[in-house]
Order: sequence, then C-alpha cells, then structure tokens
Amino acid sequence: MTSVNFISNEKLWSIRSGELQYILKVADDGSLVNLHFGGRVEPVESISLGGHFPFEPSLHLLREEYSTFGGLRFMEPCLKVELPGGVRDCVLKYESFKIEDNNVLSITLKDISYELFADLHYRAYPAYSIITKWAEIRNAGPQPVILEEALSGAVSLPRGGLWRLTFLSGHWAGETRIVQEVLKAGKKVLESRRGTTSHQLNPVAFFDAGDAGEEEGEVWGCLLGWSGNWKCVSEYVGHDQLRVAMGVNDFDFSWYLESGESFKTPKMILAYSASGFGGLSRSLHRFERGVVLPRNNATKPRPVIYNTWETLYFNVNEENLKQLADIAAEIGVEVFVVDDGWFKGRNDDRAGLGDWVPDPHKFPRGLGPVIEHVKSRGMIFGIWVEPEMVNPNSDLYRRHPDWVYHFPGRPRSEMRNQLILNLSRSDVREYVFNWLDRLLAENDIGFVKWDMNRSFSEPGWPDAPRGREREIWVRHVQAVYEILDEIRRRHPNVIFEGCSGGGGRVDLGAMERFDQFWTSDNTDALDRLYIQEGYTMAYCPKTMGAWVTGVPNFLTNRTLSLEFRFHSAMMGALGISVNLLELSSIEKEEARMHIEFYKKIRHIVLDGDLYRLKSPRSGGLAAFQYVTPDKTESLIFVFTLQQGFGRSEPLVRVRGLDPSLIYEVDSSGQSFSGLYLMNYGIDHGIRGDYKSKVIYLKARR
Ligand code: DGJ
Repeated sequence: MTSVNFISNEKLWSIRSGELQYILKVADDGSLVNLHFGGRVEPVESISLGGHFPFEPSLHLLREEYSTFGGLRFMEPCLKVELPGGVRDCVLKYESFKIEDNNVLSITLKDISYELFADLHYRAYPAYSIITKWAEIRNAGPQPVILEEALSGAVSLPRGGLWRLTFLSGHWAGETRIVQEVLKAGKKVLESRRGTTSHQLNPVAFFDAGDAGEEEGEVWGCLLGWSGNWKCVSEYVGHDQLRVAMGVNDFDFSWYLESGESFKTPKMILAYSASGFGGLSRSLHRFERGVVLPRNNATKPRPVIYNTWETLYFNVNEENLKQLADIAAEIGVEVFVVDDGWFKGRNDDRAGLGDWVPDPHKFPRGLGPVIEHVKSRGMIFGIWVEPEMVNPNSDLYRRHPDWVYHFPGRPRSEMRNQLILNLSRSDVREYVFNWLDRLLAENDIGFVKWDMNRSFSEPGWPDAPRGREREIWVRHVQAVYEILDEIRRRHPNVIFEGCSGGGGRVDLGAMERFDQFWTSDNTDALDRLYIQEGYTMAYCPKTMGAWVTGVPNFLTNRTLSLEFRFHSAMMGALGISVNLLELSSIEKEEARMHIEFYKKIRHIVLDGDLYRLKSPRSGGLAAFQYVTPDKTESLIFVFTLQQGFGRSEPLVRVRGLDPSLIYEVDSSGQSFSGLYLMNYGIDHGIRGDYKSKVIYLKARR
C-alpha cells in the first residue's frame, strides 16, 4: 500500500504509516497546513479548517506546518531569518512537491519575495507507525541571509482539551526518569543549552489526553535525532490548539547562509500508538533496531562486557589488567574494556586528556601485550577514549592552547578539569580523526567507548569566518558525527559505545552512530530500575548498557544481592564492573552461571518486545517482560521492593503471548496457556525485600 497520496483537487497530501496518519494541505492563501497528526482518518477530503477569530490568526495559521516569524504569526517559529536589507519578515508559501518511492514526500515552500526556500521532507516507515521529517533551508538568492532559528518542524495535536506531557528528566547519575504533567496554558519548554543532549532532559516528548495507560489509550510521540543543543516547545497557540515545535535550539545560535548554500536540520521523529505508552515504546524500539542503529551491528547480539572503571578507576596497568582479564574470561566475558587511565599522564582526572599514547609507566611495552593477553583468553579488546576533550595539563594543550572553545582574554571555565576542543576548526577535527584512526589501525581493538564529560561554556571561536561564530553549537555536533561516520567506515568491525558521563548523550542522532550507550554512572541495581524504565520509554534495551558492580554501591552505599544486581543488568546489554579479584569462588561461580544464562536468553531481551508490566514507581513490586517477535519465548523479570503490612504479592499478569499456545514455565514441566498467563497470571513466589527472579516461558511445539 502506498504511504503517500496526493489528492490534487484538494491540494492535500496524506501520509499513512501503519497506525499513524499525517495530513497536509495547501490553504487558500498558499500556506501549508497540518490538518491531522494521529490515528487513521478516512475520507481525508472531509477535513477542513475553517474558523476566523477576532484578535487571533485564523485557525489554519495556528496549525501552520512550518511557521515563520512573519506576518500574523505569534507562536514559536520554526524559521526566523534575517533577509537582505535587514528584513526580519519571512512568509512561506507553497511552491511544489515531489513523491519518491511512495514513502518520501518533499514539499517546497518559498518566501513571498526573496529566493529563500524551505524544502520539507517526510519519510514514512509503515512497519513501525513512524514518520520522520526534516527541513532544508536553501538560499537561492544573490545575497547572504542569517538564520536565527531553524527548527526541524512542528506538529499540531488534535484540537481541544488539555494535553498531558510525559518526558524524561534527571541529572548525572539519575538520568531518564519519567515525569508527567498536564499542560494547562502557555509554553512548556524542554531543552538543552549544554552543547550535548544532556542528563537533565532528553529530546523526547510524549502526549496523551490524560487517559492513556501503559497498554491502552492514544499516545503521540515527538523525538529529535540530535546530540547538541535542542529545544522542544509545547505551546497552546490559541483556541485549544496545542502545537509542538522541535529542533536545534535557537539559543545563542545563528547560521550564515551564503547565496547558494543550504542548512539541513536534524530529523524530528513522529510516532503514534493507540496501545498506550508501551505500544509507542515498542514501535520506537523496533524502528531503532530496524532502521536507526548502525546496520553492520544492528542484528548482532550485544556482547557481555567487562569494564575496568568501577574496579581500577585510573589505576590500570599491564599487570592488573592481565589478572582481571583471566577471571573475566573464566566467567564468560566476551569483551574486555580498559576504561579511563591508560594514556600518558592520566593518574587522575587532572591530566592527560589529549595525549592519546599509552602511559609509559603503566604500559612500558605499550598496549600490545595486554591486547594479546585478552585475545589469548578468547575475548575482544576494548578501549575508552574522550576525543573531544583536553586537560590544560597535557602536551596537546601546551602546544595548542588556541584549540579549545574560548573568548580571548576571558576565563576558560573547567569542568572535571577539562576544556572542549574546538571541532568547528578543520585542523582540530583532522587531528582528532587521525589519532583515533591510527589507534584503531595499529591495535587490534574491537570495541570503543567514546565518552564526553563536560558541558560547554564560553563557546567562543576566535578565528571563525565572519558571521559564523555562533555556528559552533551545530558545527561541533556535525564534526562528531562526521568523525564517527568515517571511523566506522574505516573500521567496520568495531563496536562503538556512546557515553557522556553516563546517559548525557543518548538520542536518535547518536544512535545512528553508536551501537549502544552507557546508560548512567549510577550502577545501583535498584535505582537502575527507574532509570532503565525511563530509558526504555524511548530507547530499545539493545542499546542500554547495564553493569553489575560491587557493593556497597559507590553512589548509594546500598548492598543488594549479586542475583538482584545481575537480574537488573540483564534487562539490557550486560556488562560487569565488579572487582573480580575480590569475588569468592562461590560468587565467581554464581556470576558465571548468570552470564551463561544471559547468553542463552539475550536474544529475547535484545531483539524482543518489551512490556513494562509493573513500574517500580508504583511500589511493592516491579516487573518487566520481554517476548520474542514470534511469541514463542518470553522472560519475566520480577523485583520486590520494600515490603510491609503482610501484604501478599500480586500475581504477575503477563502480556504479548499467543493465547492459544501452551508455555512451559522455567523448564519445570509446569505449563499454562498464553490465555491463562495473560488473564490470570503467574505467582512468582518470591518474598522479602529486594529479591528478584527471572521466569522463562517457552512455547511447546
Ligand atoms: C564517565 C563514564 O560515565 C564512566 O563510565 C567512566 O568511563 C568515566 N567517565 C571515566 O572517566
């Protein structure tokens, strides 16, 4: 079935994408209007937008698809531009359109007097009920223009009523926690001005009428594929019309568009589900696995990782790495990752960033012997890098103090004792690319953890070409993307993990380049249930790095059983950062068994559908279920929280099974129909605080 249809006598386009439909129309005055964003509508010709109000623009302008600062428009603009002669009025009218492969629609708009074009692109992914859209602003006139705001786009939600916004918020060591609030009036702005996606807010906004649940009700989703400053403005623009605009943040931004140049925005991702938040998440997860993730590793399982961070911190050396690698191999680890601390002068976080050669005291013979040792134990060698950064105490900074973002004669604020390399400069970009390329070419490295541990400040680019100083917010991210794309192309077998002090740079733009992310520096297995719940609202478990670490936890001082820690971490891409040298032989054997089990079931976690059966936020018990796409296997992770008052634990009613199939529980011989398990439930049988269990269901042939 074709996704994009054009009804010429109505000047109307309908984009159908699975459950989702998006309808655009050219209004009588030539402006492009978003008639509908939501569930399927038929016949589309019946939709009309009348309505003229005193003291308000007419309704069609309130639902304008790519609104500008110009004419009678008072809402958040998608485009604000200074045209030649200091003209700050821009009005876009329909010009032409093109449909490619039945699923890509491009509509061109043009300013009423200047040769400035906006090409709006839409791509339907019917298998996932998702549409992506982005804009390209083209200056075809003879003189330069200055973009002051150029968002990816806006959507208009069905008119009327109050909307509830669900988003992901937090801080370092407490990312992606779910927040809900009813939007009553005015604007609600979610944004990052830190140069990265941010720990504080994530570019994800879900909307419902206040009545959607985990598995029922309509939910609309807007996400942004961008790893720098971003903004999402939800605004009642008049007459109960909620409009959501999203894109690169216009804060301190401007872009000098020469004659003949164009500016391409990041993608805005639109999703819709009539099966609640769970339904929306599952569509997004499938879309990420099927479309977004780097193709070469998308269908491969994620390996079990050992990471040295919470064991050795900066104190890595040839000897202790070999000792750890021996035990890691014994318990079944597949990738051994040396985290921070391996390079020249890096004994703490005060020095070394920028000097990417092995520290001669810790590795007098270079990295070679450790890599060979790791490989001889049957594991892949992985390494940590932080390419965008420099410590003032480094050879690189001493040689090139002008290579960081700064304003001449002004302080250079340090965060974690480091400054940010100005990747907007081509010489700096080249330097970073070259050492990374060399590191991977000269060493047998199969896994790279790319970290980024500070926010931007004093974002000056003293040698910038005139008028381009404020482009750094975009140019930096473009440079990171370019370096990663080219490094991936040259080293196709390497797995890349994205990290920014934990989950500070998790988004759908980064996900096109990173196979997985470090979710949070918070490795407390209980806190993780909340962080992971929020993470999976938007992002698939396949990308969700989760480690088992030592107790008491460094952050919370909490001691949880090894079993609980493993179960919590097994719900994503499993890693270990326990001090293996301190494990008793019983604990080592327990760890080995958990890893062995994980390897048997990871296809269900990594490539299955997730059902968040019971949120930890509701207290008492948390439960998460994963089901293979063919519904023949399922896992239920159950965690008890603090118990009290002699309550009996509720049965766990599962979801997503085939009602007519018979499932064996935990290879125990006990079997129940899918119908029984979904409508009556399973007695998980665990009692007491902070206990956990994984129940495995397998359909009988
Ligand atoms: C922050 C990361 O989130 C940690 O996992 C670790 O890699 C440190 N940086 C190293 O400095």
